[in-house]
Amino acid sequence: MFSGQNIPRLDGVDKVTGRARYTADIEMAGMWHGVVVRSAIPHGRVEKIEFNSAFDWNRVVAADSKDIPGKNCVAMIEMDVPLIVSEKIMHIGEAILLIAAPARELAMDAVRNVKVVYEEWEPVLTVADAKRAAIKIRGEDNIMSQCKMEKGDTARGFKMADHIVEGSYSMGHQEHMYLETQGMIAAPSDDGGINLAGSIQCPYYVSMAVSILMDLPEDKISVRQAVVGGAFGGKEDYPSILAGYASVLAKKAKRPVRMIYERMEDTQVTTKRHPAKVYHRTGVKNDGTIVAMEILVEMNAGAYVTMTPVVLSRGLIHSAGAYTCENVSARGIAYATNTAPNGAFRGFGVPQVFFPMEVHVDRVAKEIGMPPLEFRRINCVKKGGMLATGQILEESVGAMKCLNEAAKRSSFAAKFKEYAKKNNHRVRRGIGMSLFMHGAGFTGSGESKIKGKAGLRLDPDGRITILTACTEMGQGAHTVLPQMTADFLGVDISLVNIETPDTALVPNSGPTVASRTTMVMGNVLSKCAGTLKQKLSEYASEKFGKRDVKFSDIVKSYLKERGELTVFDHYELPPGIKWDDRNFRGDAYSAYAWGCDVAEVEVDMETFEVRVVKMWMAHDVGRAVNPVMAAGQIEGGTLQALGYALMENHKMEKGKFVTSRFQNYMIPTAPDAPEWDTKIIEEKLSFGPMGAKGLGELPMDGGAPAIVNAIANATGIFVRDLPATPEKLYELFLMSQRQK
Ligand code: MOS
Repeated sequence: MFSGQNIPRLDGVDKVTGRARYTADIEMAGMWHGVVVRSAIPHGRVEKIEFNSAFDWNRVVAADSKDIPGKNCVAMIEMDVPLIVSEKIMHIGEAILLIAAPARELAMDAVRNVKVVYEEWEPVLTVADAKRAAIKIRGEDNIMSQCKMEKGDTARGFKMADHIVEGSYSMGHQEHMYLETQGMIAAPSDDGGINLAGSIQCPYYVSMAVSILMDLPEDKISVRQAVVGGAFGGKEDYPSILAGYASVLAKKAKRPVRMIYERMEDTQVTTKRHPAKVYHRTGVKNDGTIVAMEILVEMNAGAYVTMTPVVLSRGLIHSAGAYTCENVSARGIAYATNTAPNGAFRGFGVPQVFFPMEVHVDRVAKEIGMPPLEFRRINCVKKGGMLATGQILEESVGAMKCLNEAAKRSSFAAKFKEYAKKNNHRVRRGIGMSLFMHGAGFTGSGESKIKGKAGLRLDPDGRITILTACTEMGQGAHTVLPQMTADFLGVDISLVNIETPDTALVPNSGPTVASRTTMVMGNVLSKCAGTLKQKLSEYASEKFGKRDVKFSDIVKSYLKERGELTVFDHYELPPGIKWDDRNFRGDAYSAYAWGCDVAEVEVDMETFEVRVVKMWMAHDVGRAVNPVMAAGQIEGGTLQALGYALMENHKMEKGKFVTSRFQNYMIPTAPDAPEWDTKIIEEKLSFGPMGAKGLGELPMDGGAPAIVNAIANATGIFVRDLPATPEKLYELFLMSQRQK
């Protein structure tokens, strides 16, 4: 068995030796460089564009919205994002003009010789502005999307409550800060089509969008993934826009065009995590049972729909946490603002509900005088329990096990009690925890609509090649899928190859998002392997009888005698999964991964700096196909959550992000990383491949509330607005002193 083994990453050697070719490394004859003239105002209209006549415009190619052969619209959930501004400007950074030139410097020089004259309108910059609706940028109420989820009867629930605790919690933008910025190459093909290569998560998303923009059938477009240097959701939706720019320029310039964003450009215009504000009102009995929960999730969508309805709905579904409260009423609303559209970011709406839920839980526990661990144990969902959507969990419910394991390993109960005692030390210690889950795969019936496909191909060298559009972006998919496939086929992993995700070569597996790849693709590949094995063994017994023949020789012989063979299959949801999308009732996800994080912190009471000393993560992922890589995901995602908790503070001035570099947008680095105690729990999922569920996003969901709860244990101060910077902590401390 290769599954369960720490096989070294199959992409590792190429990456550390520099052989791997990222988008910036790909060379093509006659390739030009594309740049964008961007809107400098958040809301308004282009009055005119002036080209400086002193500049030699024959040396460059410029394109505006009239150069788009198809629809001026980037297809995502709705068709509302224009590729290039033709009338209204909805946010800073929107494309007004595209320019390509033989060298980037020349293209940038051209940009400086363009003057855009605007008619400026008052912008809507915050959710508060949007709610007032004095300025209307979407409909009458500026509402982009809304949804609700009801379980039981909250009015009855609150009547049963001995205490009611309320609170609101908020979080700002979070930037992906992948090391490799967005990049794309478009090249016209001989048949009038376009070939693209770039830093992407979802080749088929790009293909669909370019098809509509360029008015080309999808079979005239190929989209290939170059090696990707980090994505975290940021290369799910945005690359369709960049691919549109590059395609329009390539067509007009009649040559390949490459576009690589600079860091500042990337942080100012690409998608970010949705800022959110969440209100909780919770009814609880003296014995610790939560009897009613009222929740309102508000998100800032930015200027266009992009991914917002799915981010909001995933957030709402997770908003009542890993608890079995009988009466829940939750509402989600996303508002339009004149800021860059927010999109996919690891966790996809879920970190924005677990920070509120899990900090609120600690406050509720404190209110009734119960330790937070005991309080969570009482309310934690168990096998056979029901979540807020009415989904009954039949199997693979590791919540309680995660909770107990993390608590035991960290000596949580004793430390929590000890650290809560008042002292006058300059450096105070605290410990905090969070309990959380993440639904694997698309929400509701999503997976049955996509029917993600994959294939296995026989190769002349006697090996088997996996055909999937699911991409490697550092998470390890292109190691884990071969590992599992080797086991499904019963062959050595050296006999399994994986094709580059290229729409010309691989079927549409659906996007590489939503913690779906291992679970969904693993499942499809196991079906493919079953069919392939049967075909090969039938052939072998006919050809070789009872003789023992090497697998690779059977493959070679088959290809010689019978010709090419590729076996395809697609994903089907497990039977019995039912989801009512209108009322948010039923089985939102076929499986959930569970986690409990414990953080131990030191707070310096002079400077209010917080150091996370150690974190314990107990995560139930069903089955870790590659334990070292799974632990890497857990630790990396938790570190990203540490940044969200303590330092990532995206500042905006008049609709423009000013924290646009690594120098002023702080993310955690190695010295910020605490000591890790990572415990993988395997509550196997019967229909998951080898028992595996999704893992990629779970670690981003629980770190922030655990850290913030630890700060509260140390100081008595609950931070309710991320990030918990020293400045914010100091202010809250002063306020708490004044109240005494
Ligand atoms: Mo993701 S945040 O589902 O790419």
